[in-house]
Amino acid sequence: MSADPWTTDQTLQQHLETRGVSRRQFLRFARDIGVLLGVSQMGLPKLAKALSVVKRPSVVWLQLQECTGCVESVLRTNEPTIGNLLLDVVSLDYNHTLMAASGHAAEEALQHAMKENAGEYLLVVSGSIPTKDNGIYTMIGGRSAETVIREAAKGAAAIVALGACAHFGGVQAARPNPTEAKGVREIIRDRPILTIAGCPPIGDVLTASVVHWLTFKRLPESDSEGRPLFAYGKRIHDQCPRRAHFDAGQYVEQFDDEGAKKAWCLYKVGCKGPATSSPCPIFLWNDQTSWPIGSGHPCLGCTEAHFWDTMTPFYNRLPEAVVAGFPIEHRVDRIGATLAVAAVAGVSLHAVVTGVQMSRRRADGSTYLLDAPPEDRANGTASGGDDDYPHTH
Ligand code: SF4
Ligand code: SF4
Ligand code: F3S
Repeated sequence: MSADPWTTDQTLQQHLETRGVSRRQFLRFARDIGVLLGVSQMGLPKLAKALSVVKRPSVVWLQLQECTGCVESVLRTNEPTIGNLLLDVVSLDYNHTLMAASGHAAEEALQHAMKENAGEYLLVVSGSIPTKDNGIYTMIGGRSAETVIREAAKGAAAIVALGACAHFGGVQAARPNPTEAKGVREIIRDRPILTIAGCPPIGDVLTASVVHWLTFKRLPESDSEGRPLFAYGKRIHDQCPRRAHFDAGQYVEQFDDEGAKKAWCLYKVGCKGPATSSPCPIFLWNDQTSWPIGSGHPCLGCTEAHFWDTMTPFYNRLPEAVVAGFPIEHRVDRIGATLAVAAVAGVSLHAVVTGVQMSRRRADGSTYLLDAPPEDRANGTASGGDDDYPHTH
């Protein structure tokens, strides 16, 4: 939680300036987030302007039956970024891991935040809700997680279900689901709910969603799982830099074979990318340096509901039935036998497009870093300058 709180009389841009963020950096950040959100070039200046004058919102963050991995993923970073700072300065009126208060004082802070900001606060929930035995498996201040979330949801303007646990119950809901764990959408049905899927999810997706909520006063468009389309609108398989190898019939058969060394497709060692909608190949992880497939590990499908049951065993080939309407096993065998050459030619365009997207994203991603080398800040190549930003006047 910020030691330098965002006061109610400051706009977001004014407050970020007190934290060392220049106007140029702020505009560049707003532009990059706008691009992630799919805002048109024409709309980017409007987004930056609207975001700059945002006043301090109230955010209540409940951690229920969970492992704290989502908080770590979203708020921890090796290097400070504006996105990270944004989540830090957004008023976390209640988050029991990050707030200084504990015990009764923490519970009083929750009650106070809900009362003072009734009908206006954003409720972020990580963790599942155990419902067996009156919910005794997660008690907070002597009350069950279900009681706490039902109360907090009543005064929320909108809810963000963050991570697989809040999405569908997570690993706790894996068969046989001993605590009868449920996701937020199974408990709360009368509030707008956005699902930031993943175990854990990528912090930038939450940042971009919060920016959307702050500027447009509504949650971004989402799919049937409640996942924002700007991030989860495409399958990993359709954005994967190894896709050309899939189409060419070039597969890793074992983790230490020649195919693994050549970064071939991981489908045969269990990759669930063809059945997984996720922003991982574009947003990346670890300060936008890497992601599971990029590191040679198959995707486990962690952004999909009940992946602990439907995507396991993790290192087995994806069953054809999981990929509805996409006869993937048949396709792999055919391509492997006779169509490799034609496939190479047919998909090279895809590889090029994906490569361009990836490198552009990497280049842009570095602009989030606040501590880019000074020479890069000076010439605008890292932190951006007004020169390449569409002016608002
Ligand atoms: Fe932990 Fe994964 Fe649940 Fe997040 S979604 S709290 S990382 S188990
Ligand atoms: Fe990439 Fe996995 Fe698809 Fe292979 S199966 S192209 S590694 S997403
Ligand atoms: Fe999860 Fe697959 Fe990304 S396992 S972290 S969605 S590559």
